[in-house]
Amino acid sequence: MQNNKNILSVKNAKKQFGGVVAINDVSITASKGNITGLIGPNGAGKTTLFNLITGLIAPNSGEFFLFDKKYSPKNIHNVVENGIARTFQNIRLFNKMSVLENVLVGRHVKTDCWSLGILSSIFKNRNLITKEAEERKLCMKILERVGLSEKKFNLSESLPYGDQRRLEIARALASEPLLLALDEPAAGMNPTEKVELKNLITQISKEGISILIIEHDVKLITSLCDIVYVMDRGKIISHGTPGVIKNDQAVINAYLGKNAND
Ligand SMILES: Nc1ncnc2c1ncn2[C@@H]1O[C@H](COP(=O)(O)OP(=O)(O)O)[C@@H](O)[C@H]1O
Ligand SMILES: [Mg+2]
Repeated sequence: MQNNKNILSVKNAKKQFGGVVAINDVSITASKGNITGLIGPNGAGKTTLFNLITGLIAPNSGEFFLFDKKYSPKNIHNVVENGIARTFQNIRLFNKMSVLENVLVGRHVKTDCWSLGILSSIFKNRNLITKEAEERKLCMKILERVGLSEKKFNLSESLPYGDQRRLEIARALASEPLLLALDEPAAGMNPTEKVELKNLITQISKEGISILIIEHDVKLITSLCDIVYVMDRGKIISHGTPGVIKNDQAVINAYLGKNAND
């Protein structure tokens, strides 16, 4: 599904940690409606690039655009308000909260409790009660989308690994993102869970949310993505359709040769 409208552009990004240049003059574009992939060996700089895009860390240089409008990814809350949501390579859920509560937390950028007034919060007036009920209903719908509605009252820490990854996606969806950034969502999943994940990502994409995905599973990436960027040692070494990158000698040398059968 090609669409020329850029949802996200990164231009000439650079990030250095001491002497390590983790991101070296990287430019990528994610188009609206597309699933854009990012692959590369461990340490290539993929997560660092996500952290720059989503405002978790500041770049040394580079420009970032959302819908061709320049943004300053200094503050993760501004990034979320502008329509980017993400999941983490190392799952970051609120362990002692229920599945439903984790998704409710993801709604906070959309729920303006202050506008309902401090007094109404204290006295729990009808407005607030109605609003809370609406929010719960909406979050339950999201849990249904990811197949976790029956586990709504379970503690998130009690969930199997695959469910925790799906819950992270649900929490990200709760902010109603335009772009969903997934950092190795299939890591640690068994083959059945991977098929379910693939179906879920395809469904989210069909609902109109653009997707940027880091993944090690080459088969998953090449079967899901419209465009794939390949990183190695802080640089983009190739990009194109899955067919193009699979046959690019630089990619085979750096990555596919070692991981093609993962
Ligand atoms: N916070 C940090 N401090 C120092 N070095 C870091 C930090 N984060 C990442 N790096 C380094 O940057 C490089 C890229 O890491 P990362 O983005 O995690 O790679 P990938 O996600 O592709 O495996 C690695 O050499 C890593 O050790
Ligand atoms: Mg990583």
